[in-house]
Amino acid sequence: MLMPQDKGPIDQTGEWEALQRHWESLAGRHMRDMFATDPQRSERYSLSACGLELDYSKNLVDEKAMELLLDLAAAAGLPAWRERLFAGDRVNTTEQRAVLHMALRSLGDRAYRCDGEDVMDGIRSVLARMRAFSEKVRNGAWRGHTGEPITDIVSIGIGGSSLGPKMACEALRPYQRADLRVHFVSNVDEAHLASTLESLDPASTLFIVASKTFTTQETLTNARSARDWLVRRLGGEAAVASHFVAVSTNAEAVAAFGIDTEHMFEFWEWVGGRYSLWSSIGLPIALAVGFERFEELLAGANAMDEHFLSAPLEHNMPVILGLLGIWYRNFAGCDSLAIVPYHQHLEYLPAFLQQLDMESNGKQVTRDGVPVSYQTGPVIWGAPGTDAQHSFFQLLHQGTRAIPVDFILPLCPAYDLPGHHDKLVANCLAQAQALMRGRSADEVRDEMAAAGLPAERIEALVPHRTFPGNRPSNLLVFDRLTPQVLGALIALYEHKVFVQGVIWGVDSFDQWGVELGKQLAGQILRVFEGDGASQGTDASTAGLIRRYQEAACSRQA
Ligand code: F6P
Repeated sequence: MLMPQDKGPIDQTGEWEALQRHWESLAGRHMRDMFATDPQRSERYSLSACGLELDYSKNLVDEKAMELLLDLAAAAGLPAWRERLFAGDRVNTTEQRAVLHMALRSLGDRAYRCDGEDVMDGIRSVLARMRAFSEKVRNGAWRGHTGEPITDIVSIGIGGSSLGPKMACEALRPYQRADLRVHFVSNVDEAHLASTLESLDPASTLFIVASKTFTTQETLTNARSARDWLVRRLGGEAAVASHFVAVSTNAEAVAAFGIDTEHMFEFWEWVGGRYSLWSSIGLPIALAVGFERFEELLAGANAMDEHFLSAPLEHNMPVILGLLGIWYRNFAGCDSLAIVPYHQHLEYLPAFLQQLDMESNGKQVTRDGVPVSYQTGPVIWGAPGTDAQHSFFQLLHQGTRAIPVDFILPLCPAYDLPGHHDKLVANCLAQAQALMRGRSADEVRDEMAAAGLPAERIEALVPHRTFPGNRPSNLLVFDRLTPQVLGALIALYEHKVFVQGVIWGVDSFDQWGVELGKQLAGQILRVFEGDGASQGTDASTAGLIRRYQEAACSRQA
């Protein structure tokens, strides 16, 4: 099928040029004035779907900008690409793979096929095993080697095999039980595993080794050390069977590691690592909050899939969020996007979205291997408010570059502690308002004059106390962070990333950029092990290798 992207680079289209011209024509317009002249602005630029409300009125857009952005989506063939994605076409072109994480949360509503084969039976069977296993662990029927019930679960994995479940477990902390704790170990730095194991009793600890490939250096190193720790303390290899389970697509490697494949929860090649929390990679979530809650998470994501598939583009939340990102990245020249959840339990959301977005759209060539002549994925970063207000918000308000912000806000508190939530909400709304409005020099003067400051002092301070404003933000609100809402929120960002990848014409589902570092680390490691030479290595790296070899600690490593 000839896709619109095959017609030529997106930045050579009339739609792109029209957007460029429109951006230039908006120079000098301030959002303050846009609000002042349009009392309907907030309603006009708001959307609801799947328990989420998106207020995107504090963006530097007018109706024409939105129309032109939607034209660009059409020019990039977004509806056709969306069809191909859901139809199980191999949209991950460089790896020749289908991308079907939506099937994992379909809950029987829709048939998904890969190479003509229905994938739903396999999904249902793994879900049934996850349910049975999580119930056994949670009700104490699953016992450790010495007959103890499980009190601590350590999930060992990295990247997509860790960030999603870790973020979701923390987000759903109010649904967790105090007597079953879930820990995540990802870093090969022994500090991560050692400090996690320090307080654990091996007799009541269960390890989940989570790796799609089961070849990832960090995960296998941590898993081996964890197994040694367990075997040493429980007195033999026989203990492994009741304390280790695996989540992987690679049964052979799981067996070679010494985990019975009876205790392996399978998933499939068509589930990308950063899109895998919906698969058995989500086992720690099911263990932490119970299988019913895990199903609710899937249901929330499924609702967002259906919205993405069926809502007209102009009312489609992932499409609108994606197009606003294109507007800032490609026409306003913004380099990054800040994610600021006003919910402490969404602490790990920025890190999760970092991998989701930056590993997906951090690409410099199109699907055909042609270098792009426009910017692609922005830097994603962020931290929870209100803490973030006391660290990086200064730059957001008065730095030289505009950085769009996604504010994420629950309207109802997760706990019942009076005197907090009003302040949290007030701060979030105030930050979005301040970024948009700014504070003019005259306002600064009036304020300081009213406070009785002398004229000379006022003039010296005016430039410092003036805020340009006109800085864009989205506000995503919901009642409570339930499993459904969390599912919808994550799926919203997944599809947003897809929308942007389609417009940029890149393969959002591969990650070749992580390979080179892995290969070079292997070579350096061989030098450390005396099984390779550092010849051909640049002088800086060679010098640092020598420096490490001379350091006292490397001789004990
Ligand atoms: O960092 C690259 C990567 O391949 C990620 O995409 C993936 O999520 C992570 O490594 C972990 O891979 P695996 O699940 O195979 O251990």
